[in-house]
Amino acid sequence: MKRDFLTVTDLSKEEMYRIFDMAKQYKSARKKGESSGILQNRSIGLLFDKPSTRTRVSFEVAITELGGRPLYLSGGTTQIPRGETVRDTASVLSRYLGGMIIRTYKQEDIEEFARNFSYPVINALTDLLHPCQILTDYFTICEKKGKLEGLNVTYIGDGNNVCNSLILGADLLGVNLRVAVPEEYRPSEKIVKQVKNRNLIIIDENPARFIPDADVIYTDTWVSMGEEEETEKRKKIFQKYQVNSRLLRTAKRDFIFMHCLPAHRGWEVTDEVIDSDNSVVLDQAENRLHCQKALLHLLYSESRILRFQSEEL
Ligand code: CP
Ligand code: NVA
Repeated sequence: MKRDFLTVTDLSKEEMYRIFDMAKQYKSARKKGESSGILQNRSIGLLFDKPSTRTRVSFEVAITELGGRPLYLSGGTTQIPRGETVRDTASVLSRYLGGMIIRTYKQEDIEEFARNFSYPVINALTDLLHPCQILTDYFTICEKKGKLEGLNVTYIGDGNNVCNSLILGADLLGVNLRVAVPEEYRPSEKIVKQVKNRNLIIIDENPARFIPDADVIYTDTWVSMGEEEETEKRKKIFQKYQVNSRLLRTAKRDFIFMHCLPAHRGWEVTDEVIDSDNSVVLDQAENRLHCQKALLHLLYSESRILRFQSEEL
C-alpha cells in the first residue's frame, strides 16, 4: 500500500513523533555531510501551480540528498491548462515517476491526483491546507520549547491554509491553539468540525486576548496566493491584527515568534518583531528540509514500494 500525505491527519500522533525523531537525526547527520539513500533510483515530480521558494528548494534538496532525482514541473507548462484531466495526467505520470509533490489551488484536485497515481503524493500547499509547513512548525516548537503538550500557541491573522493546518495539528498533538481572526476570515468550518479535542482550540476576534499566555505567537500573510484581487480590502480589515511591539507588550519574555514565510514586512508583522531575538523564522524555514526528509523516509519505508534492482535486468 502506498502512503500519501494530503492532510495533517494522514499521520497519527505516533508517526508525527517518529518524524520529529528522524528529522533530528537527519539534521545532525547533515552537519557531518551524511544522509540515507532511501530514495535511491527514484524520480520524484514536483508539480507546482503556485510560486514557491522554501517548499520547492527544500524538497528538491531533500530528494537529492536522499539519493533520488527531483523533477520540477511548473503546472502552466503541462497539458493541464489545455484541458488534460487530473486523472489522465496522474495515470500517465505514474508510468514515469515514483512520487509526486503538488502545490495547487483545490484540495480535491490533489485527492483526485492521488487516487490515480501509484506512488506517494505529498500536499505542498492547497487553498485549504499546508500540512508540510505545520509538520515543521510543531517540530520547531518542540525543538525550542522541549515539549508540545500543554503549550499555548497563538495564531493571529487570516484563517487560511496555514491556520487550518495548525488547528488539525494542535488537535492531534495536544497543543492549546488560540486563533485571533476577523469574523469574516475564520478558519474553514469543515476543518474546525474535524477537531476531536474541542477544548484545545479557541477562536476569537480579539488579537490582544491571547498574547499574555502565549508560548508561541504565529502569523501569516493576510493575502494568500490566489487572493491578490482582495489585497486592498484585506489590508484594511487586518490592520489591527498586525504583530508589532505594541500588540506584544503583554507577551511573556521567552515567547517565540513564528511565520511560515514569505513575510510581508510592515503588513502582518513589523521588522522589529520578525528581526527580534524572539523570532525563530530562519530555523523554522531550515527545518522544512530536515522534516521533509523524515516525511519522505516514513512514506517510502511504509509504502513498501520495491526498489529498482539492477540485477533484474
Ligand atoms: N512557507 C512556504 O511554503 O514558503 P514557499 O511559498 O516559499 O514555499
Ligand atoms: N497562506 C500562504 C502561505 C504561503 C506559504 C499562501 O497560501 O499564500
